[in-house]
Amino acid sequence: MKALIFKEAHAPLEYLDVDTPTPATGEVLVKIKAGALNHRDVWITKGLYPGLRPDVTPGSCGAGTVDGRDVIINPNVDWGTDTLKRNASYTILGMPTNGTFAEYIAINPDRLVDKPAHLSMEEAAALPLAGVTAYRALFSKARCQAGDKVLINGVGGGVALFACQFAIAAGADVYVTSSKQEKIDQAIALGAKGGALYTEPKWSKSFAKQFGTVDIVIDSAGGDGFNELLKLCSPHARIATYGGTRGTAKVEPSLLFWKEIEIYGTTMGSDTEFEAMVDFVNEHKLHPVVDSVYALADHAEAYAHMDAGKQFGKIVLKM
Ligand SMILES: NC(=O)c1ccc[n+]([C@@H]2O[C@H](COP(=O)([O-])OP(=O)(O)OC[C@H]3O[C@@H](n4cnc5c(N)ncnc54)[C@H](OP(=O)(O)O)[C@@H]3O)[C@@H](O)[C@H]2O)c1
Repeated sequence: MKALIFKEAHAPLEYLDVDTPTPATGEVLVKIKAGALNHRDVWITKGLYPGLRPDVTPGSCGAGTVDGRDVIINPNVDWGTDTLKRNASYTILGMPTNGTFAEYIAINPDRLVDKPAHLSMEEAAALPLAGVTAYRALFSKARCQAGDKVLINGVGGGVALFACQFAIAAGADVYVTSSKQEKIDQAIALGAKGGALYTEPKWSKSFAKQFGTVDIVIDSAGGDGFNELLKLCSPHARIATYGGTRGTAKVEPSLLFWKEIEIYGTTMGSDTEFEAMVDFVNEHKLHPVVDSVYALADHAEAYAHMDAGKQFGKIVLKM
């Protein structure tokens, strides 16, 4: 079969003919139809991800078929049974274990959920990692409910856009930030109420003037801009943070304690949350936004596209 193989950081991924995996006892062989990139895949190629191993097929997200059944792959490896906290041995599919950027994967059937019928294979492949991260951040951590005012920072991100779609579907009033006006406009077309360019100086002031403060912030940027998010919080707001794309966040304590803001770190989501997330997508007939689809052989262009941050929605690899 054809597969992408990670050899070492700072070297291109290799597109090779490798042996089709033989399922171990209890495993099944899934024919992967599509996979999707996450920023993690880019961090891996740059050596910015822990536990890198050579000769591994990357890719955490995928959808395919097994025995005539269309399935979505749960990227959790050994979360365990406690939804609140994962096992110490937890990893994510696609490093250090072989992932989805290949024509086949041998996998335990307990990692498979039925693909909702309204989703194409590309849309289904877009969902797993980003969807479960957004679901836990928004609902389990930030306790989003109908009527909440939610700010999604950097809506062009894969997780961020799912958080935006999920919050809108849950009946929240959603606002977004982005580096690009057209991404704000695309979020508004999905149902967001408004947005601001985080690249503008003092953007939080004009945001507050126009839209007021918010009950929930979903963030993966961190960095210097974090205090701007604190300024936009209503009393008792919840912030869920799942990434540090812009590095160390500087926190002004007075912005935090007076309004009693709660900050939650969040990562991925349990198997229970994964299944609840797919059910939520099915119930609301949500369509993941697919930015672009590349052939597996054109993986380098797909990775470069993500690295450049120009996408709105998920970047998909088709097998
Ligand atoms: N903890 C977890 O479980 C988990 C899961 C998934 C991802 N992550 C992490 O979360 C981050 C995003 O991942 P992803 O896969 O969603 O990445 P992605 O699709 O590449 O999205 C990155 C987005 O970050 C936004 N951004 C960049 N600089 C920003 C800034 N200064 N302020 C606000 N937003 C900014 C941009 O939004 P615009 O295009 O709108 O400007 C960009 O599109 C990465 O650091 C990733 O490692 C963590």
